[in-house]
Amino acid sequence: MKNTREKFKRYTVTSALPYANGPLHIGHLAGVYIPADIYSRYLRSKGEDVIFIGGSDEHGVPITIKAREQGVTPQEIVDKYHKIIKESFEQFGISFDIYSRTSNKIHHETAADIFRTLYEKNEFIEQTSLQYYDEETQHFLADRYITGTCPHCGYENAYGDQCENCGTSLSPNELINPKSLLSGNVPVRKETKHWYLPLDKYTPWLREWILESHKNDWKTNVYGQCKSWINHGLKPRAVTRDLDWGIKVPVEDAEGKVLYVWFDAPIGYISATKEWAQENNKNWEPYWKDKETKLVHFIGKDNIVFHCIMFPSILKNEGTYIVPDNVPANEFLNLEGNKISTSRNWAVWLHEYLDEFPDKQDVLRYVLCSNAPETKDNDFTWKDFQAKNNNELLAIFGNFVNRTVVLTHKYFNGLVPEIGELTELDKTVLKEIKAYPEKIGKSIENYRFREALNEMMNLARLGNKYLTDSEPWKQIKSNKERVKTILNISLQICANLSILAEPFLPFTSNKLIKILNISALKWKDAGKPDILVSGHQLNKPFYLFEKIEDPEINTQIQKLLNTKKNNEEEKKQINPAKENIEFDDFVKLDLRTGTIIEAEKVPKTKKLLKLKIDTGIDKRLIVSGIAEYYKPEDIIGQKISILVNLAPRKLRGIESNGMILMAKNSEGKLCFVSPTENFNNGSEIK
Ligand code: MF3
Ligand code: ZN
Repeated sequence: MKNTREKFKRYTVTSALPYANGPLHIGHLAGVYIPADIYSRYLRSKGEDVIFIGGSDEHGVPITIKAREQGVTPQEIVDKYHKIIKESFEQFGISFDIYSRTSNKIHHETAADIFRTLYEKNEFIEQTSLQYYDEETQHFLADRYITGTCPHCGYENAYGDQCENCGTSLSPNELINPKSLLSGNVPVRKETKHWYLPLDKYTPWLREWILESHKNDWKTNVYGQCKSWINHGLKPRAVTRDLDWGIKVPVEDAEGKVLYVWFDAPIGYISATKEWAQENNKNWEPYWKDKETKLVHFIGKDNIVFHCIMFPSILKNEGTYIVPDNVPANEFLNLEGNKISTSRNWAVWLHEYLDEFPDKQDVLRYVLCSNAPETKDNDFTWKDFQAKNNNELLAIFGNFVNRTVVLTHKYFNGLVPEIGELTELDKTVLKEIKAYPEKIGKSIENYRFREALNEMMNLARLGNKYLTDSEPWKQIKSNKERVKTILNISLQICANLSILAEPFLPFTSNKLIKILNISALKWKDAGKPDILVSGHQLNKPFYLFEKIEDPEINTQIQKLLNTKKNNEEEKKQINPAKENIEFDDFVKLDLRTGTIIEAEKVPKTKKLLKLKIDTGIDKRLIVSGIAEYYKPEDIIGQKISILVNLAPRKLRGIESNGMILMAKNSEGKLCFVSPTENFNNGSEIK
């Protein structure tokens, strides 16, 4: 097994750049930013040279689509969401050294430079292909800009890359009746040239670098995905697009083309480092080019191929960069048993959480870390949120600190008492305290954040149990000296917690520091039995956590239930009106009243009935798709309305002459549209 704790000179920690086309939700925090923040805070506390990078991903097709939908420019969209996203991160204490954005000039230059270098080294394959083109607006159409009928399920509004009805991924060529979203016109196919990264050519290196040398230190979910990609055979991947939003392809003969968003976005980590270096008078290069730098990418599982295969291939073949040491990707977080979905508003949005639970950032940080989808998808529920706050943060951590500080004020005026003679219990406890920094640190360094958090809580549990077992409130009358020792040791645990909880619960750690009246300490100070010297004055205690009552939780659950109801109602939506027709068109329809006189099922079909109808004009056969709703024997004698001059059509080999009028509700159920009085067959409907 590779030693994951080898010494590095510095750390470059990156977290996936969120798309600036919507606000953040708990899935983002749990999957990427909380682990990355814990990791970075821990390394800083250890005194390491670390830069923690974040920023907004401001290119790509979805942003242009959102802008079109809202009738604004893509720049306006990214400006709006960049601000909202940045604010949420700040409020949750995500401690980026820089939070940048990919629309910055320095990023455009950096990405273009890297593209040009690869181009000049002849790494790219140039290839022309046929792509859909909208002749009216003169645009090549990104997959998302084409809709049509899904060849698998018949859904009429499938996209060029995916059918949202049946979930199948598609290519635009598979769509039946393709239409351009820009103009509604039928697109034509036109030749276009693009540049491809030859991942096939890089496969031997990727195999060696990932499958051989990271066999034991990458997470199994990450390693497994890479292995499957590599073993299925990597193909050259286009790194340019025909689009007018993004970074212009910086070579000749590339009019109207931009870099593929997944080419430019990860380079954003480098651009952000440059920006940070400029602002802080540092040199950015060692963070990306020195072999003694440990580069770690925190991402969600949908980003694995880009960070493990594509971006490293770019860095490696550019020639001067290091590649990541690890890519600890997480799985997904679900919400109350369902996939988080932006379009269905099935999410807990960070800005809404902060409105409703101001000052409870650490509670969410705690719950999301202790439930982090590290090895498999996981579920967030509000009941669990409440339970973790009340039974863990409050009952264990908060309660321990509060009891210790209150008793110290009560018995010793808030002055840290002296430590006296040690009992066996004291010695064991002190020994255990000593082991925590190493235990927690090791888990963090191995990207096992849930385990690390649990260890940190075990220290609070240890404190709580120590206090309960040694009962200072009983000893105070008879043995004040003993109480001094008990509280001294308990206070040392509190001080240790202020250090060891900091990566996970930075706000709480800060409060604890205030209560203890100390300045922030570093990881190396932890584990010691004498962080607080006797005679040191504590501040008055205040609560670190508050109980969360049922009504608050029920409000949140109700909110989600409402969302669910709204979504269901939206599904029941009435179809929009069709285009107007002229009166002359209407009078062409010969609509009559009639009666069903015979009915039987069409064999081997689920939906079809063969009906004999008395139209007043004649008696004729009509095949109708109503068998799921009506039994043949129940509808003999049924009065109906019928379109009699519809040209005959063959259905399952039977000629059908006309059409029975049926109403169809939002659930797809059918019912007859009949005259309300007993009218003659053949009465005209006008
Ligand atoms: N914007 C992408 C997403 O949300 C992540 C980009 S990560 C980067 O899935 F490295 F490309 F920036
Ligand atoms: Zn489909």
